[in-house]
Amino acid sequence: MSSYFEFSNEELQKELEELRARHARYAADIVRLDMTRGKPGADQLELSEKMLGIIQTNDDCFDENGLDCRNYGLLDGIPEAKKLFADVLGVRPEQLILGGNSSLNMMFDTVARAFCFGNLNSVQPWSKEEKIKFLCPAPGYDRHFSICQQFNIQMIYVPMMEDGPDMDMVEKLVETDEAVKGIWCVPKYSNPTGTVYSDQVIRRFAALKPKARDFRIFWDNAYAVHDLYDEHPQILNILDACAEAGNPDMVYMFSSTSKITYPGSGVAMLASSVDNIEYIKKQTGVQTIGPDKLNQLRHVRMFKDKESLMEQMKKHAAILRPKFEAVDSALERDLGGKEIATWSKPLGGYFVNFDSMSGCAKRIYHLCDEAGVALTKVGATFPYGNDTEDRNIRIAPSFPPVEELTVAMERFTVCVRIASIEKILAERGVEA
Ligand SMILES: Cc1ncc(COP(=O)(O)O)c(C=O)c1O
Repeated sequence: MSSYFEFSNEELQKELEELRARHARYAADIVRLDMTRGKPGADQLELSEKMLGIIQTNDDCFDENGLDCRNYGLLDGIPEAKKLFADVLGVRPEQLILGGNSSLNMMFDTVARAFCFGNLNSVQPWSKEEKIKFLCPAPGYDRHFSICQQFNIQMIYVPMMEDGPDMDMVEKLVETDEAVKGIWCVPKYSNPTGTVYSDQVIRRFAALKPKARDFRIFWDNAYAVHDLYDEHPQILNILDACAEAGNPDMVYMFSSTSKITYPGSGVAMLASSVDNIEYIKKQTGVQTIGPDKLNQLRHVRMFKDKESLMEQMKKHAAILRPKFEAVDSALERDLGGKEIATWSKPLGGYFVNFDSMSGCAKRIYHLCDEAGVALTKVGATFPYGNDTEDRNIRIAPSFPPVEELTVAMERFTVCVRIASIEKILAERGVEA
């Protein structure tokens, strides 16, 4: 299909008229198609059914050392679960704390502890500092940005490149500004861009010489094993790289089984240097007498080892792949060659990153809303909800069944085409 920029004004106006007629038909049809959040679909949740009945009797409730998992204790998790998840993350069990069901919760608590008590090598709690700043590679995960807003942390936008954040900018800011205390990273299949950080980027992270001695990298490895295809890109182990570079305490790594088993009833993880882990345990030991160990036990009985967990991930991929492919083929079919948008073709994770022409994303969002298609709020992928170019849209294909997704994407591309033609005609000074 040829570029819209090669169309005459009359051709564009005719196309717009047809598209608007389609849009009016969609608007009259009261369906609601939801592509807002990266939630697993019901069929993905069903993959873990076995886990529901895996502990049935009193005798089932003991860990490998005979500890009664129904009772208090084991602040950092049961040994066999620590072993399994350490293996999944490529860390050592003593570098790991297992939490409740949400890694986001652990991230929030980690920031909160820094504000209340400081990090291992802080001069004082962050709450006593005049200003705290975090670097926020974007497009990024909106809930990271919400944590910053909640704590009144100043967010600094860092552009995402092909293989990770703009490291020239990261180095400059981290190494010159003492108020820069953190950075959010999703190193594998970033939300929403699908970016996999290169070894070079990770080595540059590890070699940072932060101005603030208690600077931390918040390494949210939410999609560590969430490959869509047989190709499994491996990222460098940041904990090892930091230790080798003489920065052993600089990283907090997070992950969870939210998209392996259940988002509502998974196991969350925090990995860091042994010194950081011991420091954190002193504080969390006041907060709780131990996590839900029965749930950890369910997980290790469901997955005996990393290999069996990876088998489950293949089943997730088999369900998700057709959805991602439905999104891509709709985009290719309806927008390919028109030069009005670009989008990602991720090898894993939960999102397709879509960029419209500048100044069109809000209009597309609004048109989609009228056409019964709910999208993640535009701007949410940037700090303060501020996408200055107004072009980024996060598409979340995981939740709706393929048939619904196909209908939603057909409507989405009509909205994109309407907004783009309106913009091109406006730029030519022609009434749309
Ligand atoms: C990058 C990222 N981190 C964390 C989460 C949430 O993790 P959890 O369910 O463990 O709280 C999500 C969920 O979409 C995510 O995309």
